[in-house]
Amino acid sequence: PLVSMKEMLEKGKDNGYAVGQFNINNLEYIQAILQAAEAEKSPVILGVSEGAGKYMGGFNVVVAMVKATMESYGTTVPVAIHLDHGSSFEKCAQAIHAGFTSVMIDASHDPIEENIATTSKVTELAHIHGVSVEAEVGTVGGEEDGVIGGIMYADTEECKRLVTETGVDCLAPALGSVHGEYQGEPNLGFKEMEEILNAVQVPLVLHGGTGIPTKDIQKAISLGTAKINVNTENQLAQTKAVRKTLEEKPNLYDPRKYLGPGTEAIKETVIGKMREFGSSGKA
Ligand code: G3H
Ligand code: ZN
Repeated sequence: PLVSMKEMLEKGKDNGYAVGQFNINNLEYIQAILQAAEAEKSPVILGVSEGAGKYMGGFNVVVAMVKATMESYGTTVPVAIHLDHGSSFEKCAQAIHAGFTSVMIDASHDPIEENIATTSKVTELAHIHGVSVEAEVGTVGGEEDGVIGGIMYADTEECKRLVTETGVDCLAPALGSVHGEYQGEPNLGFKEMEEILNAVQVPLVLHGGTGIPTKDIQKAISLGTAKINVNTENQLAQTKAVRKTLEEKPNLYDPRKYLGPGTEAIKETVIGKMREFGSSGKA
């Protein structure tokens, strides 16, 4: 069923596993990720960036595709449709009214007062609709949908204020993770993560899941991380498979024949992540 993230993340936090957010770009992503989740009996979060939403034809189209696919598959595992890095109250409201079950408001680039004000407004609307909310403090490194930021660690006091004053359901404290591939080993602030966990008591979210070594994933989960976002890794796997197919068979032109292997590659990547995050068998 289509649900908010609230329950799945609280269960994950209480039982020592994380639920993956896998970003979608088109129908093939929806198919691959829902198939993986059902095969693994895992809860799952479909992440939709504003850019990807636009690419797919709007939030309404996204919700319709996800719902129809779940119906045709007879999906039994909990699925959330989540706006990733929502840039304003208006965008979050649009997603909520289109039927998203969860939104992230990312006002982390604003001073903390403004971040709290915007996040409160989103949370108030979202909770009326039974929609869960994620907020961010600090800056995740790298680039996503044209938004570029240098790394800035989240401040514990700011995290505490934001969570208590807004009532958000989960928090993404930026602690050294990066969108896209890492240059060298990631250097995550685990000391800060522990401090923040003790200060806020809500499930934590780790962005930039691509390229984080398993030992760091496990450490983050042990410190209250119950949601891990993965985007680039699926794109790399899909593109590699499509490229290989087209190179091997340069005369192919039926998209089903070269996109199919890409979809399989996404599915396998997602299954690997679900096992690594410990969400397999938890639906
Ligand atoms: O919000 C999306 C994620 O943080 C994705 O990060 O592309 O590095 O896996 P990634
Ligand atoms: Zn992110």
